[in-house]
Amino acid sequence: MNIIRVKDAAEGGKKAFELIQEGLNAGAKVFGLATGSTPETLYKEMVASDLDFTECTSVNLDEYVGLSGDDDQSYRYFMNKHLFDQKPFKATFVPDGKAADLDAECASYEEIIANNPIDIQILGIGENAHIGFNEPGTPFDAPTQVVQLTESTINANKRNFEKVEDVPTTAISMGIGSIMKGKKIILMAFGEAKAEAIANTINGPVTIDVPSSILQNHADVTIIVDEAAASKL
Ligand code: GLP
Repeated sequence: MNIIRVKDAAEGGKKAFELIQEGLNAGAKVFGLATGSTPETLYKEMVASDLDFTECTSVNLDEYVGLSGDDDQSYRYFMNKHLFDQKPFKATFVPDGKAADLDAECASYEEIIANNPIDIQILGIGENAHIGFNEPGTPFDAPTQVVQLTESTINANKRNFEKVEDVPTTAISMGIGSIMKGKKIILMAFGEAKAEAIANTINGPVTIDVPSSILQNHADVTIIVDEAAASKL
């Protein structure tokens, strides 16, 4: 694992952007993208740049079940607002949280991932070390599936909703197996709340209790951490 320590989220976004730029120049065409506050500084850099993504495809990690793309709490809405509306891609994929048949939606998302092998995967991390919405206990080989969110995740994400009851309790998440197929993985983590998850990711045993620990088995992982997130390393 390559660990890059930065001062803060702004510097972390710049570092991640440099890696995206290098990848794009080297021919990367498919980007696995993440939501949450963590990648916002990266998306700002991408939007401000003159890089051209119109020949590129993006495949997002996850979406809340029950929210449509025009709901301002949905991850589709977040991606449009922070990136795609300003920096167009050839095609952008986010699971459909309003699909009538969620299992069929998961199966078709698996196909999308198979048809668009991810060159660079961006990840944030949950306080309980979830990646995507793969909560502790998720088998490492689980495919895209509907997942039950843990109390810890619901509490961490409630800041974006008016009240905790509004936070969906289920989501569609790309599986860890698909995340691990990304050729290059960049995980970003900022702030004290992520310090323990980061220490367990890098120095702990590889266990499904710490979903991100599987990244120790990937050949090309870069972890970008600010001082606070690195404080337990
Ligand atoms: C959600 C997302 C994750 C993200 C995590 C952390 O649970 N599904 O992909 O990494 O939140 O969010 P934040 O970056 O806001 O701390």
